[in-house]
Amino acid sequence: MARFSNGPDHVRRRALGVDALASVDADSLREKAFSRTHRIVAGLDVVEVMAEIARPVPVGVLAEALGLPDVSADVVPVAAAYHPHVVPDAAAEAALARLVAACGGPSELAAARIGLLVQACDATAGLIGNELFAWLTGKPAEQPVLATRRRIDGEDVTVSLAGTPFGAGPRACPGSWHARALAAGVFEALRDFRLTEGEVSWISSPNLRMPAVLRVTRG
Ligand code: HEM
Repeated sequence: MARFSNGPDHVRRRALGVDALASVDADSLREKAFSRTHRIVAGLDVVEVMAEIARPVPVGVLAEALGLPDVSADVVPVAAAYHPHVVPDAAAEAALARLVAACGGPSELAAARIGLLVQACDATAGLIGNELFAWLTGKPAEQPVLATRRRIDGEDVTVSLAGTPFGAGPRACPGSWHARALAAGVFEALRDFRLTEGEVSWISSPNLRMPAVLRVTRG
């Protein structure tokens, strides 16, 4: 993946992802995120936003926009396991094998597509969770990703992202406006919901600030 590559490998692998994103239209991401969320919440009075919407909806819509099947069920476990410091379990390995097949078989292009989907998964869930929480409570929205890990000369290095939620420089996030369009579609579909009393818990990680659970109620 571009994310953990350096030098010419990073430039070439990042360009594959950036090219794939260039064909994606923001209005259509917003509309599709709206209609997918709307379908999920139709008839429901209580929704757990993080598991039911904030991860699967953006990943499913982005996969479709990239011409892929809805691989969100496999992206979620891979996104939880792809960092170099995590040892993937058998379920994550199996999900990755299915993702590689769905993305066209082993190649740098498949890795770039998977890279887009796993990068989108938790980060966009964090954006949606934090902005929805802020909107429902009137508190300021927090930055979801507080630090990033790089692999330099075989070592994991942690880099602070304070004040730059989408990063900066040659590794800045190429999906920032895609993420915002997806989040806007989700919010539109959740307009009639309010925070369920006592139903927010936060992920315990030094690098992430986002809800683990965010339950909302219609009305
Ligand atoms: C559609 C949604 C998204 C996509 C497709 C996406 C894609 C990517 C990709 C491919 C990279 C690696 C770039 C590289 O290695 O050169 C990246 C980096 C990054 N993304 Fe995103 N991203 C998304 C959403 C978000 C969100 C919502 C946030 C935070 C609010 C975010 C924050 C970052 C940051 C901070 C980096 C830089 C990491 C570093 O410097 O090592 N991304 N993103």
